[in-house]
Amino acid sequence: MKHLITINQLTREEILSIINQAFSFKDINTRAIKKVPTLRGKTIVTCFYEASTRTRLSFEIAAKRLSADTINISKSGSSAEKGETLTDTVRNIQAMKVDLIVIRHPSSGAASFISKYLDCPVINAGDGINEHPSQALLDAMTIYEKRGSLDNLKILIVGDILHSRVARSNIYLLKKFNSEIKVFGPPMMLPKDIEKLGVSVIHDFKKTIQDVDVVMLLRVQMERQDRSLFPSVREYSKFFGFSYPMLDLIKEKCLIMHPGPINRGVELNHSAAESPSSVILDQVENGVAMRMTLMYLLLSKNLQES
Ligand code: CP
Repeated sequence: MKHLITINQLTREEILSIINQAFSFKDINTRAIKKVPTLRGKTIVTCFYEASTRTRLSFEIAAKRLSADTINISKSGSSAEKGETLTDTVRNIQAMKVDLIVIRHPSSGAASFISKYLDCPVINAGDGINEHPSQALLDAMTIYEKRGSLDNLKILIVGDILHSRVARSNIYLLKKFNSEIKVFGPPMMLPKDIEKLGVSVIHDFKKTIQDVDVVMLLRVQMERQDRSLFPSVREYSKFFGFSYPMLDLIKEKCLIMHPGPINRGVELNHSAAESPSSVILDQVENGVAMRMTLMYLLLSKNLQES
């Protein structure tokens, strides 16, 4: 693995191996001294051209826990504001002899595009509406941790599937483990031909949640809509939001997941987000260990050579 651009570059066995490695890194995060020298001397640049709390912080904390030096650049304050192209920016960053670039960008395909110009590894931290592979891996780690397996699960993904890179990466990943994946959302937020990804569209939310192992709620991505795709937030919440009474319908071991940030009261009611079924903060905790693993694996070849 030279870069991490898409979940589809990973086999089922590789995904399980990455998750296993992430559990050993997770132990480091619970120690009094949360630092190991594994990536000492390595320089990692995180380029975030879109807003982020979890992913950006998670990659930075992960790199620091492995003793790498990290620097972040965002669009604001960088020469992208003066018209520099993305390729020029990352080639200049590479010229400063950095070892790994993590990129989040509003354009689908941006991570793949820059990887063709760079010798150092690239991690896709979310490219437009395309993919968010590290999120799907940390989600899988969380499901594995709570359920003991990723095989043959019944998954329901609810909300703005059209604009969700998280949904796409999760579908690619979970299909490798024979999951039965159903999606639900406003018709305008379901991509045409979504069934081609091997998922089915459901119409009865309350009936379907009674029989699933995982409910993934997605954020409504207002910033990616050029027009409103549903009549009002109140209606969205009424018909597509996970409300408090639904907690009584789900199976005892059903996991409620959300990649964050949550629009509280829109796709997810406060009580459901804070309920014992919710693993939302476990996802965030596992994100650090997963990103430590990904950076370690991508840099391990040149660790051996150095
Ligand atoms: N899950 C996720 O990508 O969150 P951020 O946008 O805060 O990074």
